[in-house]
Amino acid sequence: MSRLVIVSNRVVVPEPGKPPPPGGLAVAVHAALKDREGLWFGWSGKVDDGPNVEPVVAVRDKITYVVTDLSTADYQEYYNGFANRVLWPILHYRVDLAEFNRSDLTGYLRVNGLFADQLAKLLEPDDIIWVHDYHLIPLARELRQRGFNNPIGFFLHIPCPPPDLLFTIPRQEQSLGVLSHYDLVGFQTENDRANYGRYLAMSKATVSRDGLAYSVDGRVTRIGAFPVGIETREYAGLAVEAEDSPFAHEVRDSLSGRKLFLGVDRLDYSKGIIHRLEAFGHFLENEPEWSNRVTLLQITPKSREEIPEYHDMSRAVNELVGGLNGRLGEAAWTPVRYINRSYSRPALAGIFRQSAAALVTPLRDGMNLVAKEFVAAQNPDDPGVLILSQFAGAAAELDAALIVNPHETEGMAAAMKQALEMPLDERRDRHALMYASIEKYNIDWWAETFLAKLADTRRSFLIGQLRSLFN
Ligand code: G6P
Repeated sequence: MSRLVIVSNRVVVPEPGKPPPPGGLAVAVHAALKDREGLWFGWSGKVDDGPNVEPVVAVRDKITYVVTDLSTADYQEYYNGFANRVLWPILHYRVDLAEFNRSDLTGYLRVNGLFADQLAKLLEPDDIIWVHDYHLIPLARELRQRGFNNPIGFFLHIPCPPPDLLFTIPRQEQSLGVLSHYDLVGFQTENDRANYGRYLAMSKATVSRDGLAYSVDGRVTRIGAFPVGIETREYAGLAVEAEDSPFAHEVRDSLSGRKLFLGVDRLDYSKGIIHRLEAFGHFLENEPEWSNRVTLLQITPKSREEIPEYHDMSRAVNELVGGLNGRLGEAAWTPVRYINRSYSRPALAGIFRQSAAALVTPLRDGMNLVAKEFVAAQNPDDPGVLILSQFAGAAAELDAALIVNPHETEGMAAAMKQALEMPLDERRDRHALMYASIEKYNIDWWAETFLAKLADTRRSFLIGQLRSLFN
């Protein structure tokens, strides 16, 4: 069996006793690699301007991690700059927040070249390469230019908006345009894939009859939707164990019998935290019988703190939480507990299991694995309710959730009330439907389906079948 080489921007080498990093990508890739022999290459998360920065190698459970530091200029231009101030906002439909500088694009392309140089020393001829997320779109071109003809797949963990938005990315032929050097490009949902297909139809590519492949300069790339899943059964087991942990008891006791609403998100403008807090305030103001009977625990690790839009948002959320607690709270009840730290997977699973509802209400999200983990963590006999934004990728699968539009405060507040008052039978029925879906389309399904399609694409290419897609 060929070795699997995963490449992503951020790689956290697991340390015993430390919580896993926040963010769906890390959890998904880690789970996908766990039963295989593989290598995972990427940024260490550290900045180092030393003269001889060499990648660090660590082996854990059959996985070889190779991580490299970035220089200050790389960190600013590639990570804080083009990746997170151009691609991230625009792919999340927030053109208004994008800030483009040519030097950032240069830095973005430079780091992709540096990654390719370092990978070139590690790659073997029959390796299968799987590149993850928007930071590394040009990596396949860089590897092809260095003579690598390995199968290379790409998966976009975040949304892909319609072409009118994609065309706002300055010089997009140098970022999105170079996806044509991959054999297979995967998206989270059919909607994302269709948006990319429409973009292709409006650019220089020749699109196949079925719309699932395209060709640029003789290279053929397939595209498809592969909704990312979780380790459903393992997570459910984790939640059962965690329910009785001292930490879970401590949280439960602290609520003094009140219902718990839970939000778990990185501090990011795409997550709809402000809209959610406003809706919770509206709910409490308009449903006074629920005052002092429900607490919202919002767990929000800070992220990308050097980027001004994140800083501004942090301030706005602090103010909103303070105002809401001041206006609606009582001596012995704080309506919103707002916490800027992350918790370990078992700790979170234990809190999920005792929540009356999870508020997963992003303004836009590629998938949102918190929604799936919440469902997995529930007691099927007495499950909590998932309140889910129609703009999370997960809504395409979890349509038995209470689906809300996060831009409609009253609708969100109504869903909060409905969740608290939902009859047990209805909670069970909705949960059973959602659990069946995440059990079938779990993380193994995701990785196996993507990798099988990548292998098939390469085989079809070698025997000349891909060309027939265009006739
Ligand atoms: C999202 C992205 C990931 C990213 C994660 C954490 O899930 O899709 O690529 O790693 O956020 O963001 P950070 O900037 O801290 O790596």
